[in-house]
Amino acid sequence: MTTPRSLHPTWRKRLQQRSGMHVMKRETPVLIEWDEQSFALGIEEMDATHAEFIDLLNQLDTAANSAFPALFTRLVEHTRTHFESEEARMLLCRFPAINEHTGEHHRVLGELNRIKKRVDRGLISFGRMYVREGLPQWFRLHAATMDSALAGHWMRHQSSGPKQA
Ligand SMILES: [Fe+2]
Ligand SMILES: [Fe+2]
Repeated sequence: MTTPRSLHPTWRKRLQQRSGMHVMKRETPVLIEWDEQSFALGIEEMDATHAEFIDLLNQLDTAANSAFPALFTRLVEHTRTHFESEEARMLLCRFPAINEHTGEHHRVLGELNRIKKRVDRGLISFGRMYVREGLPQWFRLHAATMDSALAGHWMRHQSSGPKQA
């Protein structure tokens, strides 16, 4: 299919999208993309969990309304396990900011549970807004500050003290 050059660029783009001319180029960027430089903390378990969290956010961003509640429940459960695992690590390496970090986890889990109740009542738009406008920004900051501090402390603890699992 050829697209007339005289068309307004917006319409030309829409026609090209419909005809599949731009299949190799992603027209809609993913909500949040894993990239090593921004997110990798150097601890395999934490990095894998964070990559899964990002993947769930992206799945939710494009999920149909009918699939959204079950996927949101998965996100809440995944986040609970994610936080429990970091909290266990904090105890093992006697992380000095354990109260602050754990408190932030509790705050976010509380928020997730409040949104989940709305989503379960059919208010999907609240969930979508939180996934799009709340969680990516929160995650970027949390990973770069509290999680990064935990990873650094864990690695120093591992290289100086008795070895932990
Ligand atoms: Fe984390
Ligand atoms: Fe954390």
